[in-house]
Amino acid sequence: MSGETPRNSVSGCGARVTLAAMPTPALPPSRHLVLGVTGGIAAYKCAELVRLWVRQGHTVDVVMTAAAKAFVGPATFQALSGRPVRDDLWRSETGGMDHIALSRGVDALIVAPASADFIGKLTHGLADDLLSTLCLARDCPLLIAPAMNRQMWENPATRRNVAQLRADGIAVLGPASGEQACGEVGEGRMLEPAEIVWRVESHLLPKPLAGRRVLITSGPTLEPIDPVRALVNRSSGRMGHAIAAAARDAGATVTLVSGPVAVPAPGDVQTIRVETAAEMLDAVEAQIAGTDIFIGVAAVADYRSEMQAPHKLKRDGGPLKLDLLPNPDILATVAGRANPPFCVGFAAESQDLLAHAEAKRRRKGLPLLVANDASAIGSEASRLHLLDDTGVHSLPPADKAVSGRWVVDHIAHLFNQGETP
Ligand code: C5P
Repeated sequence: MSGETPRNSVSGCGARVTLAAMPTPALPPSRHLVLGVTGGIAAYKCAELVRLWVRQGHTVDVVMTAAAKAFVGPATFQALSGRPVRDDLWRSETGGMDHIALSRGVDALIVAPASADFIGKLTHGLADDLLSTLCLARDCPLLIAPAMNRQMWENPATRRNVAQLRADGIAVLGPASGEQACGEVGEGRMLEPAEIVWRVESHLLPKPLAGRRVLITSGPTLEPIDPVRALVNRSSGRMGHAIAAAARDAGATVTLVSGPVAVPAPGDVQTIRVETAAEMLDAVEAQIAGTDIFIGVAAVADYRSEMQAPHKLKRDGGPLKLDLLPNPDILATVAGRANPPFCVGFAAESQDLLAHAEAKRRRKGLPLLVANDASAIGSEASRLHLLDDTGVHSLPPADKAVSGRWVVDHIAHLFNQGETP
């Protein structure tokens, strides 16, 4: 942790709610991308990939290998990109040297699908066609989305090649797992086009949290009553997981402590699974050393049952009385440490959202609290309000993945402000 003085100071006194000016959260800028398509059945999905990018306002130049043209015709990509498709090292549309000129001034070169053969060539620096030569001569980031049969993906030669490409600074997106075109099931499917769009954008985002450690709680906690029954808060974990992915994309090293959820753990994030609030607190305390930013998104159950029956309780028709004991407040515990990290809380309220949220921020001594309407629990979208020392910043309604990015941008802004002397 970098600061010597506690960062969790809340200025002013009394709960007040003022509206603070906040610039509209930035949309991704238009980008110039080059898509390299190699020979694989997933090449047909790249027509959709180009369509999505073009719809977002990006310029896309498509380069195809000879094998790619066995699966999809250049006319498809030309129609969707509105630009000539390049496929020949020896013949240039512009009369120049495509293998060099095509990557100059572009934001990224993405190879999708990246076949096992192309990955092998890339690993060894072979350059015998336009795309492989372009990859070697590029001066922009290179990302690949592998797609191949699961045995090819698991083959030690492919494993070695992919490890080498990662070590060379090439971003490897996926692959996903599931049913393959050949009928087999396993790892090797190309990521879906929308996922590739998202992952490329994540890769190109600024990294205001580079070198920082972020610890996040997510999901509900589950407090057992007997082996089959439990007390639980409603929480899907979508928001906490989206914040973890956004913090990762902002360059942070992220640890996620998650209660039981159905949403998948974000890639490249250390995820620790827990059930109860006591387990969540233990996991947080075990990870807190060296943490720069702590974000409590979890819907921690406020109470646990004093009785935890070893066997299923029998229903006898009469009322059942449970004694409930208060659970530890994980966020308040972290914020109350001698030299705490920068602490961020979340509050879902079903009425008087902003007033309750501001009172909670002050009670817990937090520089930032994110308030959301309890009716958004479990849904894909959210409408968030960021409460800090300057007032309330209301975000537009958005998909949780998008709001998560805006929240992390604001956290990074406040955190880095506190870091500058
Ligand atoms: O439940 P409450 O509205 O007080 O939650 C506000 C914030 O406190 C959330 O960020 C939540 O993750 C955190 N919290 C916690 N431990 C609790 C209760 C809440 O960390 N026992």
